[in-house]
Amino acid sequence: MVQFTLPKNSKITKGKEWNPPAVDAEPGRWREYRVYRYDPETADNPRVDTYWVDMNDCGPMVLDALLWIKNKIDPTLTFRRSCREGVCGSCSMNIDGTNTLACTMHAEEAKGAAIAIYPLPHMPVVKDLVPDMTRFYAQHREIEPWLKTDSPTPQKEWRQSHDDREKLDGLYECILCACCSTACPSYWWNGDRYLGPAILLQANRWVEDSRDERTGERLDDLEDPFRLYRCHTILNCTKACPKGLNPAASIASLKRKMVERS
Ligand code: SF4
Ligand code: SF4
Ligand code: FES
Repeated sequence: MVQFTLPKNSKITKGKEWNPPAVDAEPGRWREYRVYRYDPETADNPRVDTYWVDMNDCGPMVLDALLWIKNKIDPTLTFRRSCREGVCGSCSMNIDGTNTLACTMHAEEAKGAAIAIYPLPHMPVVKDLVPDMTRFYAQHREIEPWLKTDSPTPQKEWRQSHDDREKLDGLYECILCACCSTACPSYWWNGDRYLGPAILLQANRWVEDSRDERTGERLDDLEDPFRLYRCHTILNCTKACPKGLNPAASIASLKRKMVERS
């Protein structure tokens, strides 16, 4: 068993150890999980609870382990998930020190013997591993993520060449999981005014779309010392993206377009 330690001066306390395995348990069978707990309706906050997951009875992904804990040990453990295929973006959390999706991370990928799980960093917590995404979604709404046109609506469809369609590759795949934005120091400190990498990648997706007829207006909306220009090219965002996208490149592309049109 690995000794339980918390960072010095941490306000997080050591919580309950739910189901320690028997001393003569089969070696390697039980995997230790240390999970952040916060419940606004109790006083014992925040804390880190320890659970042991029986790997003979559980699927290989971290989300499998969380579901196993919830179904077999502690039904109060709260987290978001839906697709379990890396498509919906709802199971994003900080696992083993990295923002990622619980459903696509294999437990074997964790470096430590015990797997630490926290909510996405620098977001208010609703409960346990569920962050409050209100501001993030409001920022997404602000960039008006839909096709804006002035031309008369075509009878059948808005057409696009293959080359123009290809320009959206690496952008349309974003699942808005917020792993990148919550890994970005500029977003941590200025998230009320800086849009952050996920939303800027989305903004770029509409700027790049050949069918959209409001590119100038979209760039005008980003021309602000905070909304776009708080990016300092630290590249945490690109490193964090579990879909292998490059939000930092989108930000650089938006900045380039600002210069080209001035
Ligand atoms: S490159 Fe920009 S957006 Fe990405 S983490 Fe760094 S400051 Fe944040
Ligand atoms: S760019 Fe990647 S990390 Fe950021 S929200 Fe989209 S999918 Fe998630
Ligand atoms: S459950 Fe949908 S991305 Fe993980």
